[in-house]
Amino acid sequence: MPAFLRHPKFWLFGLCLLPLVRLIVLGSSGGLGATPLEFITRSTGTWTLVGLMVTLSVTPLRRLTGRAELIRYRRMLGLFTFFYVSLHFVTYIWLDQFFDPAAIVRDIIKRPFITVGFAAFVLLIPLAATSTRAMIRRLGRRWQQLHRLVYAIAILGVVHYLWLVKKDLTEPLIYGAVLTLLLLMRLPWGVTLLQAVRNRLVSAEPGRAHSGKTGNPVKAIAGLTNRGQ
Ligand code: HEM
Repeated sequence: MPAFLRHPKFWLFGLCLLPLVRLIVLGSSGGLGATPLEFITRSTGTWTLVGLMVTLSVTPLRRLTGRAELIRYRRMLGLFTFFYVSLHFVTYIWLDQFFDPAAIVRDIIKRPFITVGFAAFVLLIPLAATSTRAMIRRLGRRWQQLHRLVYAIAILGVVHYLWLVKKDLTEPLIYGAVLTLLLLMRLPWGVTLLQAVRNRLVSAEPGRAHSGKTGNPVKAIAGLTNRGQ
């Protein structure tokens, strides 16, 4: 098997490309429905929001599993999020506004949900631009401060969705609840809670109960199941 096939990043890259491949396949087979513009805007908007949630899940998941290596995938997830919001924006200025700058500015000012979405997009640009190793090294502590903007961006993304939905608020509210949970897990007591859950899982792992060593919580859960608990 070629070495690159054994690399998780290769599979994650492929997975992140699936929403785009789906749009291309549907687009070339006339499967985008009666209003293709709406379909593409909604699909790219949804994947941007999902991308933000998945990117924000990396740190809590790392704390819960103790798998420090998960951090290696965060940059790719963040960059794919930026890729999908760029497609979302291009769909809007191309197919919705026909590259008319005056109409775009008017619309951004006039429709609050567009204003909020646009603000989120603009804030994402410096994050994408500073995602290289060289920029991380160059900015030092300021890099972390700058990248905290992602919390505000995710909130703006959810508000954008809440604002544009006319009737059924269920979906944007679900995103809002997930985001609230992900943000709470970053507060000191959230971090303590994750640590406590991790400790319980680790101590429940067979053969580790009294060893004091850290272990894999996934195996620990399997251990509980095997013992019928
Ligand atoms: C982080 C930034 C953004 C996120 C997370 C986001 C997310 C979303 C989501 C989830 C939807 C609805 C999908 C659905 O109906 O299933 C949507 C729709 C839409 N978004 Fe965004 N968006 C963002 C930025 C933008 C920007 C920059 C623009 C344009 C300036 C924009 C314009 C639109 C439009 C026109 C719609 C369709 C509204 C409709 O169906 O009536 N969005 N977006």
